[in-house]
Amino acid sequence: MSARLVPAAGDRTGRRPDVPLRITVDGEPVDGVAGQTLAGVLLAAGRRTWRRGPSGAPRGVFCGIGACFDCLLTVNGVRDVRACRRRARDGDAVATQSRDAR
Ligand code: FES
Repeated sequence: MSARLVPAAGDRTGRRPDVPLRITVDGEPVDGVAGQTLAGVLLAAGRRTWRRGPSGAPRGVFCGIGACFDCLLTVNGVRDVRACRRRARDGDAVATQSRDAR
């Protein structure tokens, strides 16, 4: 399987590769571009998982459409934000979370 990238001009998500942004994830800087979701920024940075479920199994993006809640993060102090539904904004402070960390 090969990677497929929709040209930015035809990308209906509004991705803007010419507008960089930087978020922090557990204090580490991660770069993305405007229009990406938080999940998109994390996946593009090579992070496939960012939390643990109740069994200890790694979790990240599963459905990618906001239905499964596997991709939860704390964003700017707000818990349980779905990374696949929330667009990244420059300066977002993201923290990984696990169910046992409440
Ligand atoms: S990946 Fe399923 S809700 Fe985000």
